[in-house]
Amino acid sequence: MADTVRVAATLDLARRPRRLRRSAAMRDLVRETRLSPANLIYPLFVCEGEGVRREVPSMPGVHQLSVDEAVAEAAAATAEGIRGVLLFGLPAAKDLAGTAADDDAAPVQAAVRAIKQATPGLLVTTDVCLCEYTSHGHCGILEGETILNDATVERLASVAVSHARAGADIVAPSDMMDGRVGAIREALDDPEHDGRYADVAIMSYAAKYCSAFYGPFRDAADSAPAFGDRRTHQMDPANAAEALREVELDIEEGADIVMVKPAVHYLDVIARVKATFNVPLAAYHVSGEYAMLKAAARNGWIDEPRAMMETLTAIRRAGADIVITYYAREAARSLA
Ligand code: PBG
Repeated sequence: MADTVRVAATLDLARRPRRLRRSAAMRDLVRETRLSPANLIYPLFVCEGEGVRREVPSMPGVHQLSVDEAVAEAAAATAEGIRGVLLFGLPAAKDLAGTAADDDAAPVQAAVRAIKQATPGLLVTTDVCLCEYTSHGHCGILEGETILNDATVERLASVAVSHARAGADIVAPSDMMDGRVGAIREALDDPEHDGRYADVAIMSYAAKYCSAFYGPFRDAADSAPAFGDRRTHQMDPANAAEALREVELDIEEGADIVMVKPAVHYLDVIARVKATFNVPLAAYHVSGEYAMLKAAARNGWIDEPRAMMETLTAIRRAGADIVITYYAREAARSLA
């Protein structure tokens, strides 16, 4: 038989952190990080047609939606407490210059107008990039296999103005070209628009990493590059100090909100940006991060509602004010 062990005598019983975890009310009282539907932005993929609701195979629960269906989805999200959506477009045709990106009749522009009319209080953000619109799937104008920075920035400014004309509240450049935030601000504030777009905010994908976790998104948006990758403009996952330089530049150029993307694998970057800068910070819980949870849940390997809330809470705890997530509706329902 084992000897009796007198543990209690060696414990300091005056300090019991467990006192604050005894009941749900006590845990609620001392919780440091709160998640609210008001902090969430819900991404939508808008395509041509009518009555289209096509599920993305690698993103269960996420659909390509025609404008009418996007309006219905936005209204349903609003009813559940969501206050903002982020729109991506799937154009009817693609070409070298991404012409459909700044076509006022394209799906994103049509969806902005229709959503603002149906649910005026819902904030509509648009993704500003060319990769969904170019025939080669790259984020800009090519010369050979090189993306031309300045020619691309000119196109992006025109895309942002087109989204503003449709009624977007926030434009969100995701391309990682140099100088695009300043160029977009200048284009929005051009005197020819008589100040109409002066209040359109810019949320810049300031620290966007070259990540394998965008894979499912490229199925959803049909935007995989035909050759090569995005390493010459998106950031090296190994770098964090560089993220601070990128964020600093975007703030100087006029970004109202900055973003770190992806979120879960870059929580340290989120924390450093939050500690360094005093602007609202968004983090994008990207498609691959979502798909991994969905896949594990479908196999019965994790408790999905708990894993979802733990993930979104972690992103907020790291310092993100805003979380962009395909889980927005599910999270809002579970917070209700
Ligand atoms: C467009 C863009 C991408 C994402 C958002 N905007 C894809 C990419 O950079 O290849 C990824 C979002 C996600 O994975 O959920 N440039």
